[in-house]
Amino acid sequence: MTDSELIREALLARECSYSPYSSFPVGAALLATSGRIYRGTNVENASYGLTMCAERVAIGCAVAAGERSFEAIAVVVRGGGSPCGACRQVLLEFGHSLRVVMADEGGSLVEVKTMAELLPSAFGPSSLE
Ligand code: THU
Repeated sequence: MTDSELIREALLARECSYSPYSSFPVGAALLATSGRIYRGTNVENASYGLTMCAERVAIGCAVAAGERSFEAIAVVVRGGGSPCGACRQVLLEFGHSLRVVMADEGGSLVEVKTMAELLPSAFGPSSLE
């Protein structure tokens, strides 16, 4: 699975975004070590604070399918931004070496970073040992 294939999956997920309040659709595609891909998109709510981000929806879908180990996640947003702080924390739960592939709405790669780079000095599972 190449980064561009994963980005394509994230673009497809983004088409399903429910974002009537922000008009800011986000698509995510999470590649598990099993080789399976789990899509996620943002799901907004009239009670704004209940909005679910694309990355966390993808993690939820994957974990509900029995996955625990991941290689990469592609995230597609207008302009190619990076995951919010809450999503970084949730992604970090599953490993510092997870690659985060960021792309814009046209599918162009903007940057690739690891979770260790996106969330240094993190509080994670090992902090509880
Ligand atoms: N959003 C995500 O889906 N992921 C992020 O990492 C940042 C923000 C969504 C939430 C909301 O629906 C919209 O983008 C604007 O904040």
